[in-house]
Amino acid sequence: MDISIRKMKLNDISFVYKEELKIFGKSLGESTLFKDIMYNDMSLYFIAIVDEKRAGYVGSWLTIPNAEILNLFVLEQYRGKKIGKKLMNEVIDACQKKNIEMLTLEVNENNNYAIKMYEDLGFYVSHKRKKYYDNKEDALLMIKEIG
Ligand SMILES: CC(C)(COP(=O)(O)OP(=O)(O)OC[C@H]1O[C@@H](n2cnc3c(N)ncnc32)[C@H](O)[C@@H]1OP(=O)(O)O)[C@@H](O)C(=O)NCCC(=O)NCCS
Repeated sequence: MDISIRKMKLNDISFVYKEELKIFGKSLGESTLFKDIMYNDMSLYFIAIVDEKRAGYVGSWLTIPNAEILNLFVLEQYRGKKIGKKLMNEVIDACQKKNIEMLTLEVNENNNYAIKMYEDLGFYVSHKRKKYYDNKEDALLMIKEIG
């Protein structure tokens, strides 16, 4: 199995949009993705490729001093193969090359699989954001110190 990570391109937008809707029931939206990739120097998006097929995605805003993960997914058939970690490590590496102090993200407090992965990557739980999601579930704000 050949796994690689590359920057997201305009022709990946429909893949990300459709899969975000399937997995999360909502998406950043095609026009936001388009504008970010074209015009936002702070945005950084990656696509994971497995055997020449798109398998996952991470989106981030490398704002200074605090950068943010916007979203992350790996298609179900490719999970458990460290692709999520590889995608996250691309963003962490990019943060380390800039003057970024911390990387933050929100994760559903019931998403044990993702929380464990983020902890393995050096994130800790900062606090809870009550009723963060549309269905009123709580999110955990997680932080990784970079600097
Ligand atoms: C969260 C997600 C991106 C992880 O991607 P992934 O490629 O499967 O993750 P990895 O293979 O890098 O595994 C990361 C860790 O998850 C845990 N994990 C892996 N397989 C697991 C399983 N079957 N059950 C429970 N935990 C598991 C392990 O801790 C693993 O690390 P380890 O193998 O070093 O022990 C993926 O599950 C996903 O897309 N989920 C749906 C969307 C989502 O929840 N996104 C996060 C939004 S904040």
